[in-house]
Amino acid sequence: MNTIERLEHLKKLRAEALLGGGQKRIDKLHSLGRLTARERVELLLDEGSFEEFDMFKTHRCSDFGMQKQKILGDGVVTGHGTIDGRIVYVFAQDFTVLGGSLSETFAEKICKIMDLAMKNGAPVIGLNDSGGARIQEGIESLAGYTDIFLRNVMASGVVPQISAIFGPCAGGAVYSPALTDFVVMVKNNSYMFLTGPKVVKSVTHEDVTVEELGGADMHASRSGVSDYAATSGADAIAYIRKLVSFLPQNNMEPPATLPCSDPADRPSAELNQIIPENPNAAYDMKQVILQTVDHGDFFEIKETFAPNIIVGFARYNGMSVGIVANQPAHYSGVLDIDSSIKGARFVRFCDCFNIPVVTFVDVPGFLPGTAQEYGGVIRNGAKILYAYAEATIPKVTIITRKAYGGAYCVMSSKHLRGDINYAWPTAEIAVMGAKGAVEVLYGKQAKAQDDPGKFLQGKEAEYQDAVANPYVAAQRGYIDDIIEPSATRSRIVRALTLVQQKRDTNPMKKHGNIPL
Ligand code: HXC
Repeated sequence: MNTIERLEHLKKLRAEALLGGGQKRIDKLHSLGRLTARERVELLLDEGSFEEFDMFKTHRCSDFGMQKQKILGDGVVTGHGTIDGRIVYVFAQDFTVLGGSLSETFAEKICKIMDLAMKNGAPVIGLNDSGGARIQEGIESLAGYTDIFLRNVMASGVVPQISAIFGPCAGGAVYSPALTDFVVMVKNNSYMFLTGPKVVKSVTHEDVTVEELGGADMHASRSGVSDYAATSGADAIAYIRKLVSFLPQNNMEPPATLPCSDPADRPSAELNQIIPENPNAAYDMKQVILQTVDHGDFFEIKETFAPNIIVGFARYNGMSVGIVANQPAHYSGVLDIDSSIKGARFVRFCDCFNIPVVTFVDVPGFLPGTAQEYGGVIRNGAKILYAYAEATIPKVTIITRKAYGGAYCVMSSKHLRGDINYAWPTAEIAVMGAKGAVEVLYGKQAKAQDDPGKFLQGKEAEYQDAVANPYVAAQRGYIDDIIEPSATRSRIVRALTLVQQKRDTNPMKKHGNIPL
């Protein structure tokens, strides 16, 4: 071949690789409302920024007629590009090639970009659409998966890892995403399970649909495996682009501070009215968040899982922060197994990546009862305590109303190295609520009274005045100041600015042993 012919040959090969499993399979995918791997990559990255690696790589299997099924790229598109000008490494599994199933060479391609991401300190984003281990390859495929799992674990806490799930993902195709920091799914169009309904039926005799077994809504609300149930593939990708904007590239740098046009001292008069007179009445903590963050822009994670705690990202005067907040509008904002796990994992992510955490507290305590005890609320509730205690990032806390019992200790209290702790004048910091407390303290005495109800009411009022307020904690210095709710934004901005350069360390150890 002369040079011109060589160039033509290259173009022909590239065109062939771009078609993956062929036009017919691409059309089928489109008819199901799914995008191709390359279309997803194009949507994810800044226009024209994608550079592909290993486009000509093919599998090495010759069993089961595989010799005739060598497709350029072997079912996964890998490379790097930018999101808002910042480098990310990407792999996108191509369902048109043998159902996106993972071969030895497919795994090598993913490992190569994961290694590059680790060496160069940039996030890895995996767009998964795969039937799992390539059955024809057997052990080579399992070995390939395990090589990826190892890298997922090694990269954990070093570079952010984000997974999107498209189509039906099974086996190894769900375990690698499970090891990453965030998992995004698509409603009615993406599924995650160890194995599908047919195998479930044959093993456990259980009848279950794909949607019930591993649909996006189930994982976003019941199992907590997914962080967001997107309405479409494009929505899932837009979510990832925004998520990345809050994160640093790696654990050695802080997240970027962006220019901010929302005044740092903007007051929110509404917050002076938000706490109901009745201490048992609910209000929406999301309003407190929205009123205080830059431009009311709050990016929520796991919105539909354990809604009694809210977690997500926002900015204060351009500074990226993680927010954790009890939600009195759901089960009174109580801490239970799921909310503790949700909060703990989020705080640990922020701590890995130097993202300060702002915590809003209104929590009546841990949920009692057999369901929680049998589920291990002691072991699981300890997770959020552990996460806040070990975190060395800047921690700013605002107690808006209740901070009762163990839940006071846990929610980024001074005692767990909270840096700046504020309370609103409506805060009630006590071992337990007034009703429970007076029953324990005066129950026997009440029985001897002519009107036990009235007696207990009087004692409740006494307890409320004496204990359930922020002043006792403020006298001890456990609360740094009692602030007017309307000034919360400006106080948070000042606190975050103050502790931005904070340095704190934990004792040298191989790693701690968080209760799992
Ligand atoms: C090889 C596969 C494949 C696989 C799908 N295909 N999965 N080829 N290995 N694992 C091929 C099909 O043969 C088909 O080829 C094409 O991909 C599309 O698959 P369909 O079945 O036609 O598509 P659909 O009806 O949408 O069903 C998708 C599916 C189903 C639900 C993913 O294919 C399926 O159940 N696959 C097997 C899932 C599984 O059990 N994987 C192994 C998990 S064990 P043609 O040529 O007909 O188009 C594992 C081990 C690691 O992953 C565990 C680590 C902890």
